[in-house]
Amino acid sequence: MNAPAPAPKAGILEIDPYVPGKAKAEGIEHPVKLSANENILGCGEAARAAYVEAAGHLASYPDGRAGELRSALARRYKLAPERLILGAGSDEIFALLNQVFLEPGDNIVQGQFAFGAYAIGVRACQGEVRRAPERVWRVDVDAMLEAVDERTRLMFIANPANPTGTFVGEAELRRLHAALRSDVVLVLDGAYGEFNRDPTYTDGVDLARDAENIVVTKTFSKLHGLAALRVGWAFAPQAIADAVNRIRQPFNTSIPAQVAAVAALADVNFQKRSVAHVERWRPWLTQQLGGLGLEIVPPSANFVLVGFPRTPGRTAAEAEVFLARRGLIVRGVAGYGLPDHLRITIGLEAHNRALIDALAQFMRA
Ligand SMILES: Cc1ncc(COP(=O)(O)O)c(C=O)c1O
Repeated sequence: MNAPAPAPKAGILEIDPYVPGKAKAEGIEHPVKLSANENILGCGEAARAAYVEAAGHLASYPDGRAGELRSALARRYKLAPERLILGAGSDEIFALLNQVFLEPGDNIVQGQFAFGAYAIGVRACQGEVRRAPERVWRVDVDAMLEAVDERTRLMFIANPANPTGTFVGEAELRRLHAALRSDVVLVLDGAYGEFNRDPTYTDGVDLARDAENIVVTKTFSKLHGLAALRVGWAFAPQAIADAVNRIRQPFNTSIPAQVAAVAALADVNFQKRSVAHVERWRPWLTQQLGGLGLEIVPPSANFVLVGFPRTPGRTAAEAEVFLARRGLIVRGVAGYGLPDHLRITIGLEAHNRALIDALAQFMRA
């Protein structure tokens, strides 16, 4: 008799597995990874030392409330500690928000080129993803509002966005929030917020202080260089923080992650160096890439989205292979609906110069 095999619930097998940025280049022992928007400076010494010291506590469960980290964040950003959510990366927080709000058939609204992690959890909840067209690679507030229907429960905006690197200014965000139904949660993903010091930019924390339906997420993976440790956080209305805290796993952030994050938060020097590095090389790269005749999407994070011609021999896919052969791994973004673009993390000086030299050769070849 053929017993039926256990089948996942409806929708699960329709989820496209997340394809991370490549980390290897064939035949190259130490390639330069410019494909995951990690902190190219690594992490700060204080965070590393805290992590190493945590090796003395491997037999213990962590503080499930992440009390010290929670207090440190609350102090640093002047936030009520009980309104904070800690997660195994901000990715976990997106999934938890989806679980809290989505019944089967409900939906989220996101931009056309939105970061892939939001949709994964939506489909797992048997929800739908509604994508609003973007205008010149930028989230379009009016299109986002238009995409909302009676089953919309959440709206996700990465600001700055990944993979485009563009941002929506404060005035537009306020207009969006004012026009959005109050029972739709607006999630503002500020993973790259610190790299954007444009005066019209806000990560939304101030907007969220008095709002009942704004959640701002942040991460230790980018500015602080702790992507390996998986630690992110969110500032949410009290009721949402309470709900998320009921469904999260009790020990979702580890001891090494918590102590390294506390140390990183205090290491203002490293944070400044990280931002200064991006601010030093972002305009240089933009100018050099533009000089090669490539299209630059105006960057506001620690990476640049570059458009290639469709001419055979000059395409984005060919450039990706050409660069990989020279040990430079960049991110193809065809999976995001951007087959003519590559996303490139801003590297150290030597990486950036090598990248431009290689692309100059590629465009001449
Ligand atoms: C827009 C955006 N949000 C969130 C994340 C994930 O952050 P975390 O490492 O905290 O899960 C990333 C990572 O690349 C990202 O690009």
